[in-house]
Amino acid sequence: MKTLIVYYSRSNTTKKVAEYLKSKLGADIEEVTTPVNYGGAIGYAKGIKDSVQEKVIEIGNLKYDPGDYDRVIIGTPVWTSKLANPILTYIKKNNSLKNVSLFIVGKSNGFEKVEEHFTKVSGVKPQKTTYILEKEINDNTFENKADALL
Ligand SMILES: Cc1cc2nc3c(=O)[nH]c(=O)nc-3n(C[C@H](O)[C@H](O)[C@H](O)COP(=O)(O)O)c2cc1C
Repeated sequence: MKTLIVYYSRSNTTKKVAEYLKSKLGADIEEVTTPVNYGGAIGYAKGIKDSVQEKVIEIGNLKYDPGDYDRVIIGTPVWTSKLANPILTYIKKNNSLKNVSLFIVGKSNGFEKVEEHFTKVSGVKPQKTTYILEKEINDNTFENKADALL
C-alpha cells in the first residue's frame, strides 16, 4: 500500500513520530511549512489566536499529491484543542482526502476535539487515530502508540 505521511511540527515533537513512521513504512513524507512565524513566545501567542479563529494561512509549496496515494497519515500538534493551522490549511486545500489516519500530539488535553475538528473540516472520519503525549515522545515511549497506525 502506497502511503504518504503529512505533518506539521513547530518544535520538532510531531516530527519525531513522522520520521519514525516513515522509517517503519518506507513512505513518502511531506512536512507542511509556513512563512508565518510561530516561533518563540510571540509566535506561540499568534498560534493561539490563529487556532481560536481557525484561520487559513499561507503554507509552503507541496511536493506530493495525496490523491496519488492509497492512504495518507496526517500528524498534527494540538493547538487550542484544534488542528494546528498549517494542517487545517493543508486539509482545506486537499478536499479529496479519502483513507486517512491521524496521529495527534499534545501536552495534555484536547485530543478528541482535534479528531472531531478533522472530521468536520475534511468530511471524512479517520480510519485510525492515535493520541500521543509530548512527554511520551520526549521519553521515547511513543512507539506502541505510533505502531497502532501501521
Ligand atoms: C498555539 C499552541 C496551542 C496549544 N494548545 C494545546 C492544547 O490545547 N492542548 C495541549 O495538550 N497542548 C497544546 N499545545 C502544546 C502542543 O500541542 C505540544 O507542545 C506539542 O508537543 C507540540 O508539537 P510540535 O513540537 O510538533 O509542534 C499547544 C501549543 C501551541 C503552540
